[in-house]
Order: sequence, then C-alpha cells, then structure tokens
Amino acid sequence: MLSFLTILLALSTCTCEENPAIQVILTNKGLQYGKHVGAGWIQDKLDEIVLPDVSGEVLGFIDYTLTGIRVSQCDLPEPSVDFYQNATGFKTSVLGLSVAVKGGWLTSCGIIHDGGSFELAVFNVDVTSIVNLGKDGNGHLSVSSVFCDAEVGDARIEFHGGASWIFKYFVKYFHDRIRGEIQEQICPAVRQYIDKIEYHLQAMTVSFQVTPALGLDLPLTSLPVIDTLTLSLPLKGQFHNIKSHKEPPFEAQPFTLAGEPNYMLSVGLSEFTINSALYGYYTAGVLQALITDSMIPPSSPFHLNTSSFAPYVPQLPKLFPGLLMELQVYASKAPVFSFQTGAVKLAFLGVIKACAIQPNTTRTPLFTLTADSKFSGKVFIDSGKLKGSTAMDNFTLTLAASEVGTFKTVALENLVKIGIKMALSKLNEQLATGFVLPRMKQAQLVNSVLKVEKGFVAISSDAEVWPTERVP
Ligand SMILES: *[C@@H]1O[C@H](CO)[C@@H](O)[C@H](O)[C@H]1NC(C)=O
Ligand SMILES: *[C@@H]1O[C@H](CO)[C@@H](O)[C@H](O)[C@H]1NC(C)=O
Ligand SMILES: *[C@@H]1O[C@H](CO)[C@@H](O)[C@H](O)[C@H]1NC(C)=O
Ligand SMILES: *[C@@H]1O[C@H](CO)[C@@H](O)[C@H](O)[C@H]1NC(C)=O
Repeated sequence: MLSFLTILLALSTCTCEENPAIQVILTNKGLQYGKHVGAGWIQDKLDEIVLPDVSGEVLGFIDYTLTGIRVSQCDLPEPSVDFYQNATGFKTSVLGLSVAVKGGWLTSCGIIHDGGSFELAVFNVDVTSIVNLGKDGNGHLSVSSVFCDAEVGDARIEFHGGASWIFKYFVKYFHDRIRGEIQEQICPAVRQYIDKIEYHLQAMTVSFQVTPALGLDLPLTSLPVIDTLTLSLPLKGQFHNIKSHKEPPFEAQPFTLAGEPNYMLSVGLSEFTINSALYGYYTAGVLQALITDSMIPPSSPFHLNTSSFAPYVPQLPKLFPGLLMELQVYASKAPVFSFQTGAVKLAFLGVIKACAIQPNTTRTPLFTLTADSKFSGKVFIDSGKLKGSTAMDNFTLTLAASEVGTFKTVALENLVKIGIKMALSKLNEQLATGFVLPRMKQAQLVNSVLKVEKGFVAISSDAEVWPTERVP
C-alpha cells in the first residue's frame, strides 16, 4: 500500500514535461578532438605514474611485494571513441597497446629477506569499453559501464638481483599465468575508473550562484540523447532569485537546436533563460534606481531642480521654487526579452516618481509617470568578441498621478528620449568594440558563430583545450 502511494506521489509531482531552456550538443568533431587531447595527456602523464604496490604469497609461505612500479615504455596507439547509440553512450577501444614497467621486488620467508629489481612487459593489449550515459533523480549526468572486454597478447617478466638467479629459470613457465592475471585485472580496473568518474559526476553541483541575487539551475531535464554523430544534453537553464526562489509565471518553450557537424559543439539558449534572470532581478527588487542631481554632470544645461522643469511642468517652479529634485525609477513588471530571427527585443515597463527635496530634507511627492519602452538590437560574434548594436523602437511617457496638477508629457517624453539615445550611443560604442568571450584557465572557444533564431540563440564553436597549464 505504502509503495503504491509512493508511486502515485512520484507520478503526481513528476515534472517530466519540462522543456530544456539550454541545450548543449557535442558533435563527432568535438568528440574526436577531446579524445585526441585526452590521449596526449595520458601519454604525457605516463612517466609520472607510480603504480600501487602488488603483494602476495607464492608457494604458500613466501611473501612478496612488487614496489615502486613505474611505466618505462608505452606504445599507446590512438584510441577510438565513438558515439554508441545502442547504449546511449560511448564505445572506446584501444587496440595493440604495449607497456613495459619496472620496479623492485622484495620477498620474505620468515626472517629471510631478499630483494632486487624486475621488468615486466605486456604486449598487444586490446581493451574495448562501452559506457552508458544517463541521468539521476537530481538531474546529474551519470555514467556506467555496460560492457568491457580485454585481451592481453603476451606478457614477459624478468627478475634481477638477490636470489633471483634461482627462480629466473622457471619464471618463464609462468608467463601465461601472468598474462592471464593481468588480463583479468583490466576490466575491473576500467569499471573502477568509470565508477570514480560517476562519483565525481554525482558530487558536481547543478545549481550555481551567478550574482549576489541570482542562481542558475542546470540539471538535466531528461536523458541525454545520442545518435551516431552527436550527444545532446537538455538542461533546465533557469535563473532563480536566491532569496525567494519564486517561480516565474511563464515556462520554457520547446526549441530545436541543430548540431553543426563542422563545429565541435553547439549551445542553444532560450529566451526563457534570460527572462528568468530578469524575473529573478525583478523579484529581488534590483531593477530600480534613484536618480539625483549629483549624477548629472555640472556642465549639463539641464539639472534636476524645479526651475529646470519649467518648460515641462510650468506650474512646478511656482509651487516649489528653487528646490532640488530626485527621481525614483523602477520596473513595474519584469522586463520581457525575446529572440526573433536575426534580432533581439526588450520591452520595459517602468514607473518614474518625482519628488522635491525640501530644505529640511523632507521629500515632497510631485508626480508619477509610467514609461513604456521597447528596444531592439543585433548581436553577433566576430573575431572572438561578442558585438552588436541596440536602438530604441518606442518610448511613451504617461502621467499616472500628480500632486501638482495635470500637464502634458510630450515635452518631457522628448527630453527623456534624448537621454536614452545618449545612453544607447555610449552602449553602442562598447558593443561595436565588443566584449571578449569568457574563457577558462585551460580552454577557450575559437571560431565561434552566433545566430539569433525565433525563441533562442544558437552558438556553434570549436574549442581549444590545453590540459596542462601553458603561458599564452
Ligand atoms: C544495435 O542494436 C540493434 C538492435 O538491437 C542491432 O541490430 C545493431 O546491430 C546494434 N548496433 C550495434 C552497432 O551494435
Ligand atoms: C537649477 O538648474 C539650473 C540649470 O538648469 C541652474 O542654472 C540653477 O542654478 C539650478 N538651481 C538650483 C537651485 O540648483
Ligand atoms: C519640512 O518642511 C516642509 C515644508 O516647509 C514642511 O511641510 C514639513 O512639515 C517639514 N518637515 C519636518 C520634519 O520638519
Ligand atoms: C509606441 O507605443 C504607443 C503606446 O504603447 C503606441 O500607441 C504607438 O503606436 C507605438 N509606436 C510605434 C512606432 O510602435
């Protein structure tokens, strides 16, 4: 009964229909590049690896230890890694691997101790591993081994020093047994390694704090999708207000991101992601500003005082002569952002409350305006920089309330338009220079292109990864 209820509960709270707002596609080009970098990294690291000691017992009474085992030579053929649709994962094989290791040996039989060095070489090792990619209940990517096969062609071992001259003659009879034992160890080691990756994936956070007010949730919304040429990861991509966690009153809409086979990866970002950030800022009360006269350059012909407002609100200097003013500006709704083919749009509904500052610092409310503004712009990536331009499409000011009697808003509207245009031309100068794309310590995006589509923006890019630190 209890389990029946649990299932019912699980079904009723299931958010299976949630659309991903961010999609990441890894193409075969990206997979092959990643493999190449990984194989080079392993080859570089081989010299530094000290393998764990091996201890055991021979003939039932001689304890032995092989210690300080290092790789002395490794012939690592380029592995093959492919998307494997049948297991929703990857198939990796290394064929014809040969490795030589050397180290020290120690034996003890009661109080008799002996020791020396040894060399071990294994030839023609073939390993094939298939892993499955999945998703756990918390939206973490998960990885598990579904198939592993290992064959060792041959193994040779030689001992030197100590009393090794006694047993070196019959060691050769054990070569096949050593070969078999190494062969049996490979797949458990591969599985252990995959379990370790899985452990790290489970420990990874899927929710990040991005600004003091906002966090970004990036769990998988459904299983990764694999076909013969791509891996797609559907991610939630929703910002939230860290304090309130209030859900926005709108949902992510589905969109189709096409993987571009000539690029290593593609990322699709829905307008929902940006709107969730704007909504988060709005609910956090961040979208507001207090404009005072001290923010206006002294050289400006216009100042925030009642005499300056004479052309716009003629009665103001008569009612409140010679007083400084301040404007409280805030969003009356969360701004709405949208991606249209080739263009981005932003609609902003704001409120402007004006008050006079009395000599005793009391604020006297004067009037309240609503501002309805629409902006559009273009964004693109050029030479590794995010560039663009913006323009104001429409701006209207309406008088919502007044403590000083009614007045026409047209003149004031034109004044604010001039102010906005000045601000936009500053912004456009910066957008023309461009913003350098974010880069990580050991990776950067190259050859990136950005396309604005209906409802989302698609970025396709190659990446450059240098696994060990380098001076650029
Ligand atoms: C995938 O599975 C199908 C049916 O289960 C099978 O016919 C096909 O050969 C498999 N493909 C590979 C590459 O193993
Ligand atoms: C008000 O602003 C005007 C400029 O528009 C300036 O000449 C005048 O001195 C200012 N008055 C006060 C009281 O700050
Ligand atoms: C400040 O001055 C205004 C106008 O002179 C007056 O109405 C108001 O009561 C004063 N406030 C205080 C706290 O003195
Ligand atoms: C600007 O907005 C107002 C009110 O929202 C509307 O009446 C007017 O048609 C719009 N103008 C343009 C050019 O879109």
